[in-house]
Amino acid sequence: MSRHLVTAALPYANGPVHIGHLAGAYLPSDIYVRYLRANREEVVFICGSDEHGVPITIRAKKEGITPQAAVDKYHAIIKQSFADFGISFDIYHRTSDPIHHRTAADFFTKLYDQHEFIEEESEQYYDEEAGMFLADRYITGTCPNCNNPGAYGDQCEKCGKSLSPRELIAPQSQLSGKAPVLRKTKHWYLPLDRYQKEWLEKWILSHKDDWKVNVFGQCKSWLDQGLQPRAVTRDLDWGVPVPLPDSTGKVLYVWFDAPIGYISATKALFEQRQDPDGWEKYWKQPDTKLIHFIGKDNIVFHCIIFPAMLKAHGDFVLPTNVPSNEFLNLEGDKISTSRNWAVWLHEYLVEFPEKQDVLRYVLCATAPETKDNDFTWKDFQSRNNSELVAILGNFVNRTLVLIQKYYEGKVPATGQLHPSDEQCIAAMKAAPGKIGASIRAFKFRDALFDLMDLARTGNKYLADNEPWKLQASDPKRVETILAVSLELTAQLAILMEPFLPFTAKKLRGMLGLEATDWKALENGALVLPGHTLSEPTLLFDKIEDDVIARQVEKLAASKAANDVKAIVFEPQKPATTFDDFQKMDIRIGTIVAAERVPKTDKLLKLTIETGIDQRTVVSGIAGHYEPEQIIGQQVTLLANLEPRKIKGIESKGMILMAENSDGRLSFVAPIQPISNGSTVR
Ligand code: MF3
Ligand code: ZN
Repeated sequence: MSRHLVTAALPYANGPVHIGHLAGAYLPSDIYVRYLRANREEVVFICGSDEHGVPITIRAKKEGITPQAAVDKYHAIIKQSFADFGISFDIYHRTSDPIHHRTAADFFTKLYDQHEFIEEESEQYYDEEAGMFLADRYITGTCPNCNNPGAYGDQCEKCGKSLSPRELIAPQSQLSGKAPVLRKTKHWYLPLDRYQKEWLEKWILSHKDDWKVNVFGQCKSWLDQGLQPRAVTRDLDWGVPVPLPDSTGKVLYVWFDAPIGYISATKALFEQRQDPDGWEKYWKQPDTKLIHFIGKDNIVFHCIIFPAMLKAHGDFVLPTNVPSNEFLNLEGDKISTSRNWAVWLHEYLVEFPEKQDVLRYVLCATAPETKDNDFTWKDFQSRNNSELVAILGNFVNRTLVLIQKYYEGKVPATGQLHPSDEQCIAAMKAAPGKIGASIRAFKFRDALFDLMDLARTGNKYLADNEPWKLQASDPKRVETILAVSLELTAQLAILMEPFLPFTAKKLRGMLGLEATDWKALENGALVLPGHTLSEPTLLFDKIEDDVIARQVEKLAASKAANDVKAIVFEPQKPATTFDDFQKMDIRIGTIVAAERVPKTDKLLKLTIETGIDQRTVVSGIAGHYEPEQIIGQQVTLLANLEPRKIKGIESKGMILMAENSDGRLSFVAPIQPISNGSTVR
């Protein structure tokens, strides 16, 4: 028995939550905590909204509201979604709360007073037009690692590398779109390099065998690259103000304040419980097991930076484990809020009211525990129909219906046990230990599989013993079979609770079962003979093809909407006459030579074979094509455009290009073979 402090990553309050969030951190942590509670362990389960940082202010700006209004809105939506899916936090707090501001500021002050920080002036990017320093996501540029042109100032989402703004190639302000300038500013840094040598590396290495392979591996690679001092402050106006004189316009870096949110939320919880000091034993007594559930993009913050902060502070325990999941994709594509490529929890509930457990089940069964995994609607349907309905629901329903039919719901007693009864009972006895061991090892998929296996055992037991065939000839035997089946049903009701809490509750109701405690499983006889069961209803029902097809269509529509959204169409030009059109001599040619026009970025000098002559055309496409790439390319040429001198070169005509609103170009060329000089009309 030990004391557990379980946290789930504080989601940014800049949008609703989707299945990727649920599968990554919230569902596994909820299963874990429900299991601990059912085993009477001491546990608090902490979460809340992460309401600071650039993602919030950017969102607010997009919606034309204040950051506070934005976090108020999304905090409420997120909180509701978690409640709807039965995520059983003891508290769902928020980092804009005064308790949090105080706690985070005090934390910073203590580190400052203990001289933990390096204070340093450096040059940082500044947007002169916006009058603002460009922290984190306010700046984008090309990733030095993978050349992704849309990398952020803190991270490249394409290759996952964490970055600092100064590493970006061709940086650009997200506020004005301009290239930023450098300006001096003072910040405070946590000397991670020093901690690495002093204790951090040793501490992480000591967890080689108890942390998950993906988690340990990422930490190891950070250590191998050598940790660097990390700034814990930013020049921004949204966040926890830096609690020092002369630091107006500076706030704590969101990744400094947010994890402290776990501490402030614990404080708030115990204030609610009228035990204001109660939080301390969770955070300060060394036998507490602090467990952070997160997604893989949070690993460095929870395994390196936050532990470094906690240790530097000195009063607090360090995490025992940081079970992190990989990512969940959706129908083969990365989940993306901005592209609306997601299954949103609040929307799911509109489509599938009361099917929270189905989603919990599918997300647990396909959880990205060791590698990225894919959610598909087809798989959702088949797991519902062939697992929840056909295995678990079917066993429970057959048992309850037979008891209703033969005994009007009155629970029969067991008589003489046959070997097959004993086998079934042995499987029941073994299940809690097996399932529990997997949960404790954060192997939730295995645990769920074993739970379903127990239901499978039940189905096989019924199929082997065929009580419906014996009722006439051997009713005593049938009583035993159904008593054993019912006992198994009651066990399932208790064992499924961490995974399927809504179904567990419903089933407990039908059984009249009070117990939720796994200790009760050891004694057996959960439902006593003679007790009358209520009329059974189905635990799960089949999901039909058309329902799934609708979901797939909805996603397809969102993909199409995105493609259209990306393009702005030019309005149509005023009418022209056919005569005017006919004045133009448009014909097909082929580029036979191309070279850059010296001292320009945009211009290529092309030699074009037109059927009637070879001529020179200067074209502004050098930003898009290398000269050697386009030799041999057929083009459409406006041949009778008045010749013009461009950079001293006589250009005779103009090649036609298609261009979209992104500035993307395409040659306009025949799609069937046709000779140069063919006219276009
Ligand atoms: N808001 C962060 C995210 O969604 C997680 C913050 S976890 C905390 O990635 F520890 F900082 F709270
Ligand atoms: Zn990259």
